[in-house]
Amino acid sequence: MITNLPEELRESGAIEVRKKLGTITGGNVLDVGTDNGDFIKVLMKTLKGYNSFTGIDVSEDDIKKAKEQFQDAPVNFIVMNAESMTFQDNQFDTVCISYSIHHLENIDAVLSEMYRVLKPGGYFIIQEMYSDGEQTKAQIVDMDMHHFNVKIDTLLGIPHFASLTRQQLRNFITKVGLNDIEAYESSWSIKCLFCDDANKCQYPMRTENIEFLLKQIDDDLDRIREHPSYGELIEEANLLKERVKTYGSSGASVVYFFGKK
Ligand SMILES: C[S@@+](CC[C@H](N)C(=O)[O-])C[C@H]1O[C@@H](n2cnc3c(N)ncnc32)[C@H](O)[C@@H]1O
Repeated sequence: MITNLPEELRESGAIEVRKKLGTITGGNVLDVGTDNGDFIKVLMKTLKGYNSFTGIDVSEDDIKKAKEQFQDAPVNFIVMNAESMTFQDNQFDTVCISYSIHHLENIDAVLSEMYRVLKPGGYFIIQEMYSDGEQTKAQIVDMDMHHFNVKIDTLLGIPHFASLTRQQLRNFITKVGLNDIEAYESSWSIKCLFCDDANKCQYPMRTENIEFLLKQIDDDLDRIREHPSYGELIEEANLLKERVKTYGSSGASVVYFFGKK
């Protein structure tokens, strides 16, 4: 963990999540929708222990990037659709999914597959941003940025959906059939505890942040330059840029669910 945590991060709830993760012996861990494996990095630093990690993602490009980052670590990355995994029943000691639920076309199918491959007594861990509750103006801009990105992905046929409320997430998780469900909330992501730039993130209005966000909006817009909806979205992009310049942006709050099979 970095020294000199900003006060906002210390009080965000992230430390309690870290403590909870520190009580879990991971064993053989499956990370679903792993992307470039960022959550695996967090788990390596926070779990009480682990034997191995398996990261799956439906995107070949993401798995290729993940493999490049973990060359010497005990991690196996596989291209696989989480709606129908090729793993055996009860194969993993721990299963997790981080920031991926709002990317899934069939949430129930993926959560039920995760349950199937989890050993009885094993931990099911979810990290996901949520859209309701008291969030700062800068966090609301982050959600608006996300929803702009969702709109563009949708126009391009890439599955990506608006973030859910805590209750909507809980409704999905309740259906899985887990025991001892515990929920934690944090206004900062747990990975911030290990990020050298965490101190900068207290200041959503810093120039480099604003410049980065404005470029991100332009880059997103560029992806649909040839699409008939391009004109309409220019106006939306300009309004979003004004909000970015007024409030900056900082990551939306996150909810963590822990349950056992
Ligand atoms: C925002 S990224 C995940 C970020 C990462 N887990 C983290 O915590 O930093 C969402 C990922 O879910 C993947 N995904 C979406 N649907 C999937 C599915 N049915 N099976 C496996 N991966 C899926 C996407 O390809 C994408 O890489």
